[in-house]
This record gives sequence, structure tokens and C-alpha cells, in this order.
Amino acid sequence: MTTNTARPATEPILLDDALSSFDALWSPRIMTRVNDYDVRVAKVRGDHIWHVHEDTDEFFLVVEGTLDIALRDGVAQEDERTVTLHRGAVFVVPRGTWHRPRSTDGACLMLFEPSGTSTVGDAHDPVPDHVDATTGHPLTR
Ligand code: NI
Repeated sequence: MTTNTARPATEPILLDDALSSFDALWSPRIMTRVNDYDVRVAKVRGDHIWHVHEDTDEFFLVVEGTLDIALRDGVAQEDERTVTLHRGAVFVVPRGTWHRPRSTDGACLMLFEPSGTSTVGDAHDPVPDHVDATTGHPLTR
């Protein structure tokens, strides 16, 4: 945990500025904190990996583009189902649910999760080079 992001940001931050400050895919930046949660933004395209957060729910808001999240949550008859989130959609992946985010054409996301939460969860498929296994990077402006 880095010291400059351990507290809420001291100045207002424009979402557009935060998003334009980096290009890396699947590599969230921490915009600010609220209590013990990070407010993270991420740019994504292509496939993330199947993973699970055993102890925390994971909140997604699609700011731009479209995100598909494959889920093994027992809701569908099949072993898996996919929810599609268009711009403005909010969805929470419950703790203990295996999931795999994917965006064919690219998307920008806002995520709320406890500080220290890994992008690849507590258990996951092998991590390819294009996926950043991180607890979030500080926003640099
Ligand atoms: Ni996740």
C-alpha cells in the first residue's frame, strides 16, 4: 500500500483526467479512497482471466464501452452465464463467485473494492502478460 493513496485525494479529480493519464490495459489506477475502499478506474480490452475474490464483493460501473462478465454463480441452468454491461451499467460480482471480465471493443470502468484487493483475486487461472496482477497503482498526474 503506497502512502500517497492511503487517504482520500485532497483535491477534486475529473474522471476524464484520470482516464487520460494512463493507457495500460487491465491495470487499475486508484483515483481516491473512501473509508477502507479504493475507487479505481481501469481501461480494458480483450479477456481478463477467471478468478475469485473469496472475501469481498466487487463493484463495476461501466463509464465507456461495453463489458461482459462471465460468471459461475449458479443463477443459470448452465454452469456459466454472462452479463453484459453497457455504458452506465452497474453490477456487483458477489464474493466467492468465479468471474471473467472481457471487452471485445474496449471499455473504461470504475471499480469499488477494499484497498489491497488483487485484480486477479485469491485464486485464478494462469496470468498472461497482458493482465496486470496488482492491488492498483497510484494515479499520477
Ligand atoms: Ni474480480
